[in-house]
Amino acid sequence: MPEQQQVLVTGGAGYIGSHVCVSLIEAGFTPVVVDNYSNSHEVALDRVTQITGVRPPVYAVDIRDEQRLGEVFAAHDIKAVMHFAGLKAVGESTTLPLEYHGNNVGGSITLFRVMEQHNVRKLIFSSSATVYGDPASVPIKETFPCQVTNPYGRTKLIVEDILRDMSAAPDAQWNTTLLRYFNPVGAHESGLIGEDPAGIPNNLVPFIAQVAVGNLPYLKVFGSDYDTRDGTGVRDYIHVVDLAAGHVAALEQLFQVAPECRVYNLGTGTGYSVLEVVKAFSEASGLEIPYELAPRRPGDIAQCFADPELAWEQLGWRTRRDLKQMMEDTWRWQKRNPQGYRTSES
Ligand code: NAD
Ligand code: UFG
Repeated sequence: MPEQQQVLVTGGAGYIGSHVCVSLIEAGFTPVVVDNYSNSHEVALDRVTQITGVRPPVYAVDIRDEQRLGEVFAAHDIKAVMHFAGLKAVGESTTLPLEYHGNNVGGSITLFRVMEQHNVRKLIFSSSATVYGDPASVPIKETFPCQVTNPYGRTKLIVEDILRDMSAAPDAQWNTTLLRYFNPVGAHESGLIGEDPAGIPNNLVPFIAQVAVGNLPYLKVFGSDYDTRDGTGVRDYIHVVDLAAGHVAALEQLFQVAPECRVYNLGTGTGYSVLEVVKAFSEASGLEIPYELAPRRPGDIAQCFADPELAWEQLGWRTRRDLKQMMEDTWRWQKRNPQGYRTSES
């Protein structure tokens, strides 16, 4: 296997990127991190070092800065890129569409241009199950039609389309893998790295975790009249360490296959309702999580879960961690770091 190959990781200080850095190092790769810290803290990379014993090269660079990004490529023998950098809040994207398109689409185009200049055409892109919109049925296969309903989702689909166009160009050497994540949750089992959202969390599991440590009074369950087993929304929660392993599997495949553009769902194939997640978290933490039933959140769908078979067939990857472990690891992270990376024991 390609030992010590250098892989550029954009957004490597973020939630998913930091976990992927750990997995890359453990698999014998060298992540080279660029991040503008707009939604992350450098201390996450200190923790990556603490877990792995390896300090990856790190650059405080915005991917929209073509010159500085080019300097990073010039300083390293980059063989492939994992592209996590971007803004990800669905609600915020509806109020700041230009910011989202500028960062997620504009930043990606700058990155791809710099990659071309440096003859690097292997890429793994962080896409999202949001590109499926409200699917006609579940489980969702990669062949399902895409239909986006908000600016964030549109930026993901536009970047996917750009990459498909680049692969289809005559003599294109672009070798790209689009990974559509379902709902990443959990944290590294050390409790040293995890999800640290700025302000009040938008997502279910970080919100529950903050209720558990007393930062928030109670959870609002958005919608209890969906056509699901208990009336609350059903999602495919995937442990972030399993997700990270999926990236390493996709990277290893990239070094072995002919150039084309592939797409894989990264999910477990199992959906859990909001109330099932609350119960699992309570069991993992030994704490009661107070909640109230509230109206549906605009834009939410009843259920969303993956058919993960294609990734198993072609990448030899599938998830190994269950909901219990997702909640235990979330709780360990949140308990050790009640204010995230800002103030925490080490
Ligand atoms: P995150 O916000 O924790 O990580 C993104 C990182 O990118 C942050 O460290 C941020 O500072 C950095 N960044 C943003 N804009 C940048 C720029 N212009 N230049 C350099 N760095 C920049 O988010 P995450 O949850 O780790 O998500 C990573 C990727 O996965 C994102 O592209 C996101 O859209 C995608 N994704 C996430 C989820 C999820 O639920 N977490 C689901 C589907 C897809
Ligand atoms: N929910 C609550 N209360 C909360 C937060 C969420 O009841 O305070 C419910 C939602 O209504 C939904 C479920 O919990 O039924 C999961 O909600 P999340 O916000 O955690 O996740 P979503 O499935 O809505 O969205 C996530 C990512 C998006 C991505 C989408 C599809 O946040 O970026 O998955 O991949 F687009």
